[in-house]
Amino acid sequence: MFENFFTFRTQRHRVSFEIIRKRDFPQLDRQAHTYLDYTGGGLYAIPQIEKHQKLLRESVFGNPHSINPTSSLSTALVEETREKVLSFFNATDEYDCIFTANASGALKIVGECFPFDEKSAFVLSKDNHNSVLGIKEKAQKKGAKVNFLELTPDLQIDKSDFLKALEEVDHYDTKLLAYPAQSNYSGVKHSLQMVREAKEKGFYVLLDAAAFTPSNLLDLKDVPADFVCISFYKMFGYPTGIGCLLVRKETCCKLQKDYFAGGTVKVASTYDQTYALHQNHEKFEDGTINYNQIPALKIGLEYLESIGMPRIQLQIQKNSRQFTGALSDIRHQNGSPLIKIIGPSDMEVRGNTIAFHILDSLGQRIDLEQIEQDALRFNISLRTGCFCNPGADECYHQLKRPEVKELLDAIEINNVTKIQQLKRKRGAVRISVGMITNEKDLMTLLNFLNNYLLADARNAA
Ligand SMILES: Cc1ncc(COP(=O)(O)O)c(C=O)c1O
Repeated sequence: MFENFFTFRTQRHRVSFEIIRKRDFPQLDRQAHTYLDYTGGGLYAIPQIEKHQKLLRESVFGNPHSINPTSSLSTALVEETREKVLSFFNATDEYDCIFTANASGALKIVGECFPFDEKSAFVLSKDNHNSVLGIKEKAQKKGAKVNFLELTPDLQIDKSDFLKALEEVDHYDTKLLAYPAQSNYSGVKHSLQMVREAKEKGFYVLLDAAAFTPSNLLDLKDVPADFVCISFYKMFGYPTGIGCLLVRKETCCKLQKDYFAGGTVKVASTYDQTYALHQNHEKFEDGTINYNQIPALKIGLEYLESIGMPRIQLQIQKNSRQFTGALSDIRHQNGSPLIKIIGPSDMEVRGNTIAFHILDSLGQRIDLEQIEQDALRFNISLRTGCFCNPGADECYHQLKRPEVKELLDAIEINNVTKIQQLKRKRGAVRISVGMITNEKDLMTLLNFLNNYLLADARNAA
């Protein structure tokens, strides 16, 4: 159905990434942007939105869940897209795809529906997005044991701690492990091998793939996690507002849901307390799904495929190495480094996210808010803070419980001076690169950073 709307010509002659940038992302250079926030959100290619607009202009889509023609059309395209998502992640047959608002929406389903109780355990790495950490609140309320996996000083999951943590909760009936395939804080790519290792020990595994899938192929035949969460705007920019939970079919039926909405029930009545929920993705897709936008996901995935995910992955790795190397090389006049990169030096375990601090020649950190302000003048999109990943930040800065509590207390009573003072001990600068990041972006970043060298030299003179 609608083949012509979806297919992008696969690029028979390999078009360079420079040409792809000019042809498909002209808005970037036209507005002189240096976009270095691909972990925050991917960019959409113009052909994607043109194709989707054409589809919308030439079709009439009605609300699904009826056999009328406009409804059937929506249903058909939504289901085609669901199949496409599953095949993109090599998950056809074994997995179901639940459309959600974003990765957080997918994680919330796991938090609310996983059968936590006093006989269950939830093990999660300290390196996790807040949207995963939130699951611990649900687990604890239902009496589950919660254990954190420690990180090494370079922010990798400590392998011996991992094995110990699995052993420690061995006697619990139901066990869930959650970790990110790639850290949104440090860019560390955690071992995907841990999925099988944990499953062999009777764990269900929740793999947060939100920061991983934009720059890496994920093959769920190789990595059989029970739950995988994804935000599509991070992969290809458009549309925002749609993510998914990929869930193994044999695990899906273990999820317990105590709410029903339109679309999720086979039958409900005002006379009786009983209701019957659907037993597949429909059980979790509350109300009307985003049927006008969902077909744009297929367009986005096919856009990536037209370039080739393996090729995209290689290009992003190349860009990550180039940026990491260039940042590490910058020196003050006295030879001290301008940049302190957070995380491992081994590029094999690093993804496209680079978190760092800018230092003066005495090794003192430059204020993060100042950096973000300065970057504005160069039209650079970067990020500062702890990126919704307090655990990784606490580990990196070696913050102990009392220091964290001090900050929470200051926030509670809105002690602004104290908050600012304590926040200075935390956070980092984060850049992240994509397939169309180029030399010009690197030069702009280096020019921007050069100002800190000059300012330091002026101060020293
Ligand atoms: C690793 C990771 N997990 C989860 C999320 C949450 O994604 P969203 O805000 O799209 O729900 C993010 C967002 O940055 C992320 O990087």
